[in-house]
Amino acid sequence: MKKELFGPMMLFLYGIALIFAAAFVHYGWHYYSLPLLERPHHALHVLLKPGGLYGHGLGVIGSSMILLLFLYSARKRHLFGLRGGRMSHWLNVHIFFGIIGPVLITLHTAMKFNGIVSISYFSMLAVMFSGILGRYIYKQIPRNSVGDALSLEQIDMQDRHMTQKLVNEFKISPEALRTIQQISGAHLAKSKSGMGALFAILANDLKRPLLLKRLQNVLRAQNLRMQPAVFQQILRTAKQKSLLMRKRAFLDSVDKIFHYWHVIHKPFAYVMIIIMFLHIALTITFGYRWIF
Ligand code: HEM
Repeated sequence: MKKELFGPMMLFLYGIALIFAAAFVHYGWHYYSLPLLERPHHALHVLLKPGGLYGHGLGVIGSSMILLLFLYSARKRHLFGLRGGRMSHWLNVHIFFGIIGPVLITLHTAMKFNGIVSISYFSMLAVMFSGILGRYIYKQIPRNSVGDALSLEQIDMQDRHMTQKLVNEFKISPEALRTIQQISGAHLAKSKSGMGALFAILANDLKRPLLLKRLQNVLRAQNLRMQPAVFQQILRTAKQKSLLMRKRAFLDSVDKIFHYWHVIHKPFAYVMIIIMFLHIALTITFGYRWIF
């Protein structure tokens, strides 16, 4: 699918899914807010209990989404003939299922957590939240437009290309070039490793709006006679360059952190999936079939 269509389509799907979830919570609010012992007397109990028509349906759809998100792993390893599509798109779909699946499963539980299956539920939440951190770390690795990590040579080539553009085409001053270097935070990479590096990156991201303002002032002070559109182009290239410099400088640390993140993220995913299968097998054994 074309890159320009993919973003709006994902936004649309998030919109639909979240509106549906919000409407559903609104519909069942009175039931969900009752103590567990009083729920069986509520008119919506037959529909909203985990084994009810709606509750069970949400469980089936939510766990199908969880299973589907593993297609990302299959695509990454070219299993089952999966080779097509940008990795960045596959990851975005993985994230969609990884957020919406747990939302639907939460509604399926009707906020009733007990027994061994609750280990699966809380492992799912742990994977989901650790996924958000993983996504942040993933973004710190320079990638091409299809989502493949760039080699050091490719990163350096991109950096040189941007420097040439800024100096030769846009004629920015050596001071502006130094400011780009300073705001990148790349100099911090020498003294930081492990979690220290991650916090330094996070701090740099939080400070970025202020740092970019400083860069804007330095560029303005140069008094280059140019159209606003060209100024914006310079600013965009300068931002991209400073970010790339930071990613390049922290790459070793980020690679290590990302490796350890996988080591934590994956086992939770496997615990969750094994218990989920046991739970499904047990409910089928006990005769629950939903609409089938
Ligand atoms: C229940 C929900 C989720 C499960 C079971 C799950 C499972 C997994 C698994 C098994 C992997 C390893 C893929 C591989 O290397 O083969 C993975 C990778 C990843 N997941 Fe999730 N995930 C979930 C939710 C999320 C969410 C919500 C996000 C982001 C907001 C996320 C972001 C990522 C990222 C960035 C990677 C690394 C991609 C890579 O290294 O290529 N995940 N996930």
